[in-house]
Amino acid sequence: MVQLSVEDEGPGISKEYHQRIFQRFGGVPGAAQVRGGSGLGLSISREFITAQGGQLWVESQPGAGSCFTFTLPAAS
Ligand SMILES: Nc1ncnc2c1ncn2[C@@H]1O[C@H](COP(=O)(O)OP(=O)(O)OP(=O)(O)O)[C@@H](O)[C@H]1O
Ligand SMILES: [Mg+2]
Repeated sequence: MVQLSVEDEGPGISKEYHQRIFQRFGGVPGAAQVRGGSGLGLSISREFITAQGGQLWVESQPGAGSCFTFTLPAAS
């Protein structure tokens, strides 16, 4: 597998929302939502990645930024 992580120093995401943000329009109530995203990016990303045998998840705490990681099978 290939594994890639993208980390930020943004507002972070409370653990109670870690599943919900990967659902369509499953935003976190508060500032991030006001920014006006489509609410689709993570759900589409997870569908693409799982369809190819990979996984996509987040590790994050409020105030501590977020780290999104995905895996994909390496070409054989
Ligand atoms: N890096 C991040 N830091 C904090 N919250 C995030 C982050 N990325 C996503 N979120 C939260 O997860 C929600 C869903 O994210 P998602 O990327 O699916 O949609 P979006 O960012 O609203 O729109 P877009 O489809 O334009 O990316 C966001 O609305 C936001 O509440
Ligand atoms: Mg987004």
